[in-house]
Amino acid sequence: MDKLVIQGGTQLNGEIRIAGAKNSALPIIASTLLTSDVIEIGNLPHLFDITTMLELLGCMGVETVVGEKLNVQINSSSIRNFSAPYELVKTMRASILVLGPMLSRFGEAEVALPGGCAIGSRPVNLHLAAMKKMGAQIKMENGYIKANTRGKRLKGAHILMDIVTVTGTENVMMAATLAEGQTIIENAAREPEVVDLAHCLRAMGADISGEGTATITINGVERLHGGSYPIMPDRIETGTYLIAAAATRGRIKVKDTRPNILEAVLSKLEEAGAQIEIGPNWITLDMHGQRPKAVSLTTAPYPAFPTDMQAQFTALNAISEGSGSITETVFENRFMHVHEMNRMGADLRVEGNTVIFRGVAALKGAPVMATDLRASASLVIAGLVSESETTVDRIYHIDRGYECIEEKLQLLGAKIRRLPS
Ligand code: EPZ
Repeated sequence: MDKLVIQGGTQLNGEIRIAGAKNSALPIIASTLLTSDVIEIGNLPHLFDITTMLELLGCMGVETVVGEKLNVQINSSSIRNFSAPYELVKTMRASILVLGPMLSRFGEAEVALPGGCAIGSRPVNLHLAAMKKMGAQIKMENGYIKANTRGKRLKGAHILMDIVTVTGTENVMMAATLAEGQTIIENAAREPEVVDLAHCLRAMGADISGEGTATITINGVERLHGGSYPIMPDRIETGTYLIAAAATRGRIKVKDTRPNILEAVLSKLEEAGAQIEIGPNWITLDMHGQRPKAVSLTTAPYPAFPTDMQAQFTALNAISEGSGSITETVFENRFMHVHEMNRMGADLRVEGNTVIFRGVAALKGAPVMATDLRASASLVIAGLVSESETTVDRIYHIDRGYECIEEKLQLLGAKIRRLPS
């Protein structure tokens, strides 16, 4: 296992390019199971989770050819089994995304039940309830979801999601593309990654409308065809680097991104005192050397402030001028970073699903441990604004979701290096 060693106190300045979105690439890779034609996916980020998803398809017999610049060609005509093994699923919960496509195209699927993770129990009951409503028989056996359509096509259904679920919406959308008749998803997730998946499915011949709103309608078709699709930029990577620059009172330009998919984050950064400018595919942030102001926020499904940016903004608030509160409404245990930041001298108090904070002028470097993907990124940001040295251990969490994080931060002037633990 590697660790990151950070010497804090440097203002970040410079330009970086944003990679393709992890949370768009994962469902889009799974959607290639819906056709026997070749699909080419472009702008894939170089991340552990992407490798795991490609490995998962590979172990089912799907042929994947990785081209240059991380384009990948996927051909599922050679599929030979319909099982997603626990060894892979336990490392990446998003493996559940193969359930809908497999049921819809092959009528059967066996997926290890994803366990919880550091941020919460993360059940998949809404995914399973929707598949049942579309005609699948689902049973649980030895920690596996065993699903079957008894040789029939899935049937379109009216699916009302009790809770807004991103991968739940994506699983149903994919299953519905080849189902018989119409599926309407109410209380659907509106995240940009759901929209990206819908655009990809439409490019494959799916009949989908309403993506990006709370009601998505899919009319099943006989088959989907091949094609090529470029993954959208990663809005969470974008927001993470903007916050890192803001925390160090620096100036940054993020390129190859999309400014109109993280408006809630940009407006909170302006409230913190950042000067933000946007172009067609770039964003600049400039703190003019000023300490950020405290900003209260509440996470919620898109277009509200994203839960995946909560830990990073907590690091910004930890060294801000003033006090406030951060409320997490999506996951039940997404404050693991708080205790580590307090060990660095932050003043953060957890009260239920809210953190009450009072900004301090600077943090003190310390050895800290990463627990989940976004918490790890927030500890790196805390290290960047600490006096002395911070060591972030167990950074395999980071490598799941951030492409070459230390190289990109070094490009911005950070004193950070990766060492074997
Ligand atoms: C997706 O996870 C993202 N992952 C997460 O990003 C993100 O934090 C989350 O959406 C919320 O935006 C991917 O897209 C691969 P949910 P997902 O289903 O789909 C409850 C990251 O850091 N729920 O929208 O698993 C659930 O417990 C990761 O990149 C049920 O109760 O999240 C949670 O409280 C972390 N039953 C809420 O809904 C279900 O069947 C939202 O979860 C499904 C979800």
